[in-house]
Amino acid sequence: MRIVIRLGGSVVATPVNTELIGKYAEILKRLKAEGHTLAVVVGGGALAREFIKIAKELGLPEKDQDDLAITVSRLYAKLFAKTLGELACEKIPTSVEEAAQCLEMDKIPVLGGLKPGMTTDTVAAMVAEHVKADILIKATDQEGIYTKDPRKYSDAVKLDKLSFEDLPKVLAENRHRAGIHQILDPQAVKILKAKRIKVWVLSGFKPENLLLAVEGKPVGTIVE
Ligand code: UTP
Repeated sequence: MRIVIRLGGSVVATPVNTELIGKYAEILKRLKAEGHTLAVVVGGGALAREFIKIAKELGLPEKDQDDLAITVSRLYAKLFAKTLGELACEKIPTSVEEAAQCLEMDKIPVLGGLKPGMTTDTVAAMVAEHVKADILIKATDQEGIYTKDPRKYSDAVKLDKLSFEDLPKVLAENRHRAGIHQILDPQAVKILKAKRIKVWVLSGFKPENLLLAVEGKPVGTIVE
C-alpha cells in the first residue's frame, strides 16, 4: 500500500519525545519491510506556534510567520529522518516532486512544511495526491474526530467513521490563518475528497495505532 503519515508536531515535538520518535522509526521500518511505500510529514508543534507568536509581536507579515513555522517543522523532519537512518532521504524535500523522487529511490521522504499559507495537513494531502497514495494517516493529539472540539466541550463524542461530505459540519474554520489548529485542515480535505484518499485520524501517542490503520482495523476516525 502507498501510505502518507502525517505525524503531529503536537505528538512527537511538544515537548520532543525521543522515546516516541524511536518507536515510530521502528514501526516505519517494519511497514517498509512488509513492502509498503511510505512518506512522512511532520508538523511544527508548539515551537512553530511560539515562532509565529514572536514574529507577530515583531510586526512581521503572516507569510514570514508561516515561513518560520515551516523552518521549525523541517528541523523536526530532519530529526526524524536522521532517526530513520538510511531508510529515509537525507535531504528534506521542499516540493512534492522532490518527495516523489525520494520514493523512486525506494526511500522514505520526511517532509515538514512546504510553503506559506497552508498547514502540514495540506502538505500531506498534496504528497498523497502526487504519489497516488491509498491512505493518509494523521497521528494527532486526540483520539479522532469528535462532534465538536473535545478540548472545549466535555459532551463531544468521537466519531468512528464519517464521509468527506459530512466532514465540514464538524470543522470550525475554513480559512487559513498562521498557526490554525483544527483536527483536519479544510484545504487538505478538499484534495483528499477529490481524490477519494481514505483518511485515518488517530491518537499519535499510541504508535501501534499506525499498524491497526494499515491493517484496515477500526481505530480513531476513518474518513472516506
Ligand atoms: P501545522 O499546524 O501543520 O503543524 O503547522 P502543527 O502545529 O505541528 O500541528 P500538529 O501539532 O502537527 O497537529 C504549523 C503552522 O506552520 C505554518 C502554518 O502557519 C501552520 O499553521 N505552515 C506549515 C505553513 O505556512 N506552510 C506549511 O507548509 C506548513
